[in-house]
Amino acid sequence: MATNYRGLEILYTRQQIAERVAEMGAQITRDINGEKLVMVGILKGAAPFLADLSRAVQADATFDFVATSSYGQGQRSSGAVKLVKDLDESIEGKNVLMVEDILDTGLTLSYLRKLFLQQKPKTLRIAVLLDKPSRRLEKIEADYVGFSIPNLFVIGYGMDYAERYRNLPDICIMSPDHPE
Ligand code: IMP
Ligand code: MG
Repeated sequence: MATNYRGLEILYTRQQIAERVAEMGAQITRDINGEKLVMVGILKGAAPFLADLSRAVQADATFDFVATSSYGQGQRSSGAVKLVKDLDESIEGKNVLMVEDILDTGLTLSYLRKLFLQQKPKTLRIAVLLDKPSRRLEKIEADYVGFSIPNLFVIGYGMDYAERYRNLPDICIMSPDHPE
């Protein structure tokens, strides 16, 4: 497998990501069928994906952002999710697309979906770049999935290890024995 300038193994190159994001954008464009769309990014990891996906969607779209914390750093979290930044605008009656970097245990997106549904959006869909179905603890699936991956810890294109590596342009594998 190819490696990047830091010696990290590349799982998906920037070209592969761009091609898949373009396909996802086309699919979302078809599904929104000329209506307005609110794209809600989950900070911080979804920022690069939202930036690219939004430009691949042909629709009258606005952005909003939420942030959650999952109590814990590094590769493990404790499981409890809390909201640390709420939506700026009401999503009542709107077509909402939640945009997330990776669907792992599902705890974050289940929590947010439940919270958002209380506001009675017209539609609520989920787009994730990566999905790790084998890790699921909550019953939740995304409407749009970039790539389904095995149980690997990945970094880059928004995804972090202890807040680092988010700016890597390719998606790389963080091996458990990596020196840093
Ligand atoms: P979930 O609540 O377990 O589905 O986790 C979602 C969040 O966990 C994602 O938004 C990521 O921030 C983080 N996460 C899960 N797997 C990975 C990974 O492989 N690399 C980096 N972050 C991850
Ligand atoms: Mg995240």
